[in-house]
Amino acid sequence: MATVEHSNGAHSAGVEDGVRRRDFINIAAVSAAGVAGLATLYPLLNQMNPSADVLALASTEIDISAIKPGQAVKTIFRKQPLFVRHLTPQEIQAANQVPLSELRDPQSLAERTKPGKAQWLVTMGVCTHLGCVPLGAGEGENRGPFGGYFCPCHGSAYDTAARIRRGPAPKNLEVPDYSFKSDTVITVGKAA
Ligand code: FES
Repeated sequence: MATVEHSNGAHSAGVEDGVRRRDFINIAAVSAAGVAGLATLYPLLNQMNPSADVLALASTEIDISAIKPGQAVKTIFRKQPLFVRHLTPQEIQAANQVPLSELRDPQSLAERTKPGKAQWLVTMGVCTHLGCVPLGAGEGENRGPFGGYFCPCHGSAYDTAARIRRGPAPKNLEVPDYSFKSDTVITVGKAA
């Protein structure tokens, strides 16, 4: 009896050793791929952040000169997506035509932009429902029924002032602290 158990045990251990060795080789291969992936990604992420140590900074500068009317860009601010959008005159008009009484989180476009700069809409790219990244800033992305941003997670739709118009999100997309350093550069966050 003891011999059989010993024999089976030895056999099992042998198989397990084999499995463990193979797993280790697989894990080692995956880890190597992961490291290579990270190495490739790093220059891209680094490019998205104007300064290498941006995550530690209280503020960051963004050159907006290349964003044409109707376009938007996604960038990163304090580890979160940030949208900068250059509104067309039609999009500004559409936002201004909505009575505040119809809004769940009533705010005019003027309150969400800087004086004389209503065409520049700067918001966090974080849905106020459960934090997904809404579509609409990338080229060709679905902007939803109100022409602003659309959250694919549960269907929240934001208008051209990034105000919540339909779906479960309770609030407009957040406008962070920012200021115009010049006509073509904004500083997001409080300058240190
Ligand atoms: S997280 Fe955007 S609708 Fe739910």
